[in-house]
Amino acid sequence: MTPVRIAVLISGEGSNLQALIDAAGRDQLGADIALVVSNRAAARGLDRARAANVRALHVPTHGTPHDYDDALTRAVAGAGPELVVLAGFMRILGPRFLERFAGRMINIHPSLLPKYPGVDTHARVLAAGDAEHGATVHFVTAELDAGPRIIRYRIRVRPGDTAETLKARVHVGEHIILPRAVKWFAAGRLRLGPKGAMLDGEHLNEPVVVEEAE
Ligand code: GRF
Repeated sequence: MTPVRIAVLISGEGSNLQALIDAAGRDQLGADIALVVSNRAAARGLDRARAANVRALHVPTHGTPHDYDDALTRAVAGAGPELVVLAGFMRILGPRFLERFAGRMINIHPSLLPKYPGVDTHARVLAAGDAEHGATVHFVTAELDAGPRIIRYRIRVRPGDTAETLKARVHVGEHIILPRAVKWFAAGRLRLGPKGAMLDGEHLNEPVVVEEAE
């Protein structure tokens, strides 16, 4: 079977990209990373891609939002991906991009969505005194961090946790759930149906949950 082609969009560190590269290297992804794109030239993830012999492209954010939407859509579409993975991509996507890859785009977000869309999730969890936290993989729609949820990783907030410790523990789980979602999609098990995410033909009323090992 030909592996599904994926494009990964990043802005920074790229540890989630690395988890995908590693899973592909172990033949556990069922997908080929055809392209990595960053809006930042200095993103460490671009180096990670190059080190793994994956095509890495910097698409700079100059011009109008419309220009950027066009440039990004052309760059990503050029690689012919069947799935686009947003792994720490810190730019809002334009309408052209969203339309082009509708239903074929997933994002990882460091919170138990629908709680805490947007930035600074770890600090917001602490400020609210929440007992639990985590990360969520979801299909991307026009509304920020609000598309149908697929899988989440859940941790308990411990006494003494800081934004840094939460971030580190959430990252561990991100590196589990993102490759898993990609693998499901690549295997044809996961898709966006008319009423939300579908796994193995069943509508997911709630995302699949992976708990942190104690
Ligand atoms: C992750 O926490 C992800 O949930 C968020 O951005 C961060 C990216 O981390 N969208 P990395 O660049 O993959 O290390």
